[in-house]
Amino acid sequence: MRTPVAIVGAGPAGLLLSHLLDLAGVESVIVETRSREYVEARIRAGILEQSTVDLLRETGLSDRLDREGDEHRGIYLQWPRERHHLDFVDLVGRSVTVYGQTEVTKDLGKARAAAGQQIYYEVADTAVHDIETDRPYLTFTDADGIPQKLDADLIVGCDGSFGPCRTAIPDAAKQTWERTYPYSWLGVLADVAPSTDELIYAWHPDGFAMHSMRSATVSRLYLQVPNGTDIGTWSDDRIWEALATRLGHGQDGWTLTPGPVTDKSVLPMRSFVQQPMRHGRLFLAGDAAHIVPPTGAKGLNLAVADVALLAPALATLVRDKDSTLADAYSDTALRRVWRCTHFSWWMTTMLHQSDDPFDRQLQLSQLQWLARSEAGRAGLAENYAGLPIGF
Ligand code: DHB
Repeated sequence: MRTPVAIVGAGPAGLLLSHLLDLAGVESVIVETRSREYVEARIRAGILEQSTVDLLRETGLSDRLDREGDEHRGIYLQWPRERHHLDFVDLVGRSVTVYGQTEVTKDLGKARAAAGQQIYYEVADTAVHDIETDRPYLTFTDADGIPQKLDADLIVGCDGSFGPCRTAIPDAAKQTWERTYPYSWLGVLADVAPSTDELIYAWHPDGFAMHSMRSATVSRLYLQVPNGTDIGTWSDDRIWEALATRLGHGQDGWTLTPGPVTDKSVLPMRSFVQQPMRHGRLFLAGDAAHIVPPTGAKGLNLAVADVALLAPALATLVRDKDSTLADAYSDTALRRVWRCTHFSWWMTTMLHQSDDPFDRQLQLSQLQWLARSEAGRAGLAENYAGLPIGF
């Protein structure tokens, strides 16, 4: 088999890349270790930056997003006895849209299937070969157990942090940075109307809490918990009680309405960057190159921005043999990656309890500054609603 662009991973990054390449007249083949059903059921964050929404609209992927997405002007930041609304539209003229990554992935899966995209699901043993030559190739075992070889002009790793692409770049050619955080999130999906019109990010002495949502009838909530937390120790009642305390139930007449929990899981938190995002004929996009902690919901948006830069770069390389954009890809993408890496680290460390009482005073000082300074709020808003793709 031969294709101009071999894509490893059929998550949102790989699917969107194949869509954008198709629009540019370049064919691709995708391989994915999981099943389509699994990929389209994974629960992830649910906030789309303005640039992500714009791109999905411009490329014909927004039918359902336009119908079901919920545009939010901003967020609430709070700590005990105080709640402040940050209006991103007033501050920076940009908004965000509540629409689950799971839904984006389903929409992409449907669009690619309709376009006849070749996707090998449930493959095993994917390996990347000869990326330093001009004849790179992939090998894998397909769903029927048959070994396959896929020759390509270029290979793109959209295979997340555990895929084979990141590690295919030799140690001598790469640098990595990592920060693990001393806490995790307990994430809850509940069949209950959200108790708030926009997201609440709450600093609390018991630990961070957040109230997000997926629709008018589904709430998404998070609690800071210690690393290594056994989910069995968190009954639904204990979860709702902790959420009520940390989110300020009863404060200024605000109430949290509990409801049936349909999913709960513990999420570790990590920052990671590997650079460069290209080695020879292998390019990395999304989680394959960088991981952000969830606070601020940057993961999907960063992957979309990578792919938006990568698609024209690959198309001009394959079609016109012009390598200008491809040569600039890693540096261009990393500018935005590091900005979002800083922003998610900042939101995370500003809002989560640590053991250090000095940190606590600094956190409250920052929150008070945001409440009182329009410049402070505009900085948060600019990063949260998202910088332009080519930042
Ligand atoms: C969600 C997740 C986030 O990490 C965040 O900052 C905002 C929203 C979510 O899952 O809805």
